Amino acid sequence: MSPGGGANSQASKSAKSERYGDSDFVVVANRLPVDLERLPDGTTTWKRSPGGLVTALEPLLRRRRGAWVGWAGLPSDRDDDLEVDDKPIVQDDLTLHQVPLSTEDIAQYYEGFSNATLWPLYHDVIVKPIYHREWWDRYVVVNRRFAEAAARVAARDGTVWVQDYQLQLVPQMLRTLRPDLTIGFFLHIPFPPVELFMQMPWRTEIIEGLLGADLVGFHLVGGAQNFLILSRRLLGANTSRGAVGVRSRFGEVQLAATASTAEPGAAGRRPDQEGRRVQVGAFPISIDSRELDHAAGSRSVKTRAREIRAELGNPRKILLGVDRLDYTKGIDVRLKALSELLAESRVKGDDTVLIQLATPSRERVESYQILRNDIERQVGHINGEYGEVGHPVVHYIHRPVPRNELIAFFVAADVMLVTPLRDGMNLVAKEYVACRSDLGGALVLSEFTGAATELKQAYLVNPHDLEGVKDSIEAALNQPVEEGRRRMRALRRQVLAHDVDRWARSFLDALAEAHPRNTK
Ligand code: ADP
Ligand code: G6P
Repeated sequence: MSPGGGANSQASKSAKSERYGDSDFVVVANRLPVDLERLPDGTTTWKRSPGGLVTALEPLLRRRRGAWVGWAGLPSDRDDDLEVDDKPIVQDDLTLHQVPLSTEDIAQYYEGFSNATLWPLYHDVIVKPIYHREWWDRYVVVNRRFAEAAARVAARDGTVWVQDYQLQLVPQMLRTLRPDLTIGFFLHIPFPPVELFMQMPWRTEIIEGLLGADLVGFHLVGGAQNFLILSRRLLGANTSRGAVGVRSRFGEVQLAATASTAEPGAAGRRPDQEGRRVQVGAFPISIDSRELDHAAGSRSVKTRAREIRAELGNPRKILLGVDRLDYTKGIDVRLKALSELLAESRVKGDDTVLIQLATPSRERVESYQILRNDIERQVGHINGEYGEVGHPVVHYIHRPVPRNELIAFFVAADVMLVTPLRDGMNLVAKEYVACRSDLGGALVLSEFTGAATELKQAYLVNPHDLEGVKDSIEAALNQPVEEGRRRMRALRRQVLAHDVDRWARSFLDALAEAHPRNTK
């Protein structure tokens, strides 16, 4: 069966018993691609969900007419009413199945364990991860709810693709409920080095959860490698590297029949898993590059880009940052660099502006509140010191902007600043490149993003080295036209050839190949 077979034909429906759902291809992610938003008058409306996961998967799933299981972004009305709604919402070519989360679930599973424990731990402990037993307990409960929802939606022998760090226990739980399924897992954020992961009190449970999949995918080989080491160390699994076959395959885990070298308590925990083989691979995610390339070339976007420059007072240079307001993104790094460049008169406040678009994110988590205060203080400082009435140096917008407006910003920007301290991939860097068919612009890119392994012709920077960041920004602002064109041409070759369809195809082909090995 082709995993993305998609359309739910009548013939296949009639063959299904009540135990099975209708969908041959199901994506499970914490968030649906659209968020339910409550308006001041009490009514609700759908809007696009934030983040790169949705950017990458939404167009793809639409094309495959798949089903998506996820949370709609609002607390459920009643905490005692957490039944998964059996009636899906059909939006164009997408079938959406809502998983309800109560206020407590949101506080403990989403804001707590997902975003105050896992997110900082997996991003090099930029802020200190918080370990709370009640958060973990809730993570288990909510992961089970997602697994049960997926089990109800997926057709017999169907394919379920589980996404990201919020749902690492779902593969194992789903396999127990539905052994007929082919199960893939993809992690959209970095997978940490072994020494950091070992901090996690529930480390063995998480690795076991992931190993319920037939294929576990990471952006980079380094993440895949860390995972193999941890499977060996924590579960006593046999692992091998460089398995042949699929291009991006990295290695294999064979779960041990007896886990003598495993963590205490791991041995015998899952007799149904003994001897199973799990494939592990690196699959760098990407964007719908053709679509962006096309949109950026349209007359309306070009006109809007010129308008933006005019509205800013036709500065000589426009710098741009586009991020969720997250401490991993290094927004503070670029503001500090700009502030020092202005102080040293290497950049002039009267002919250069920075536009910083920052989508609000995880606003009830304390580290995000601290970050917001810090960024807004820095913006105020730069404008206070170097701006003029009617001519601020930094234009800071704390809300998401519509897609076409964002594309116009990319087309207008002379220098794109992508300076994360750690980022699994960073799609913004690829989006900027896809929008520059004019071969204009320059990309300043942190070495600590997944994208840096592919975008070698960017101005690569170490965000911890402030002098280096300043030098690169200055070089990008003053690059000779021919050098800029040469760099952008090479960047575009990479981004246009490696798009999100290619990413999905390589993952799903590897997944289809991985499954039969387990059913022999
Ligand atoms: P992350 O997934 O961590 O948020 P990525 O860079 O991989 O980071 O993806 C972010 C996605 O969100 C991109 O598609 C980007 O265009 C979009 N985005 C980020 N900030 C904004 C904004 N202010 N307005 C609209 N879209 C945004
Ligand atoms: C990153 C994560 C996604 C997440 C997104 C937005 O891209 O990898 O899983 O959905 O950020 O974050 P949020 O917490 O708002 O869902």
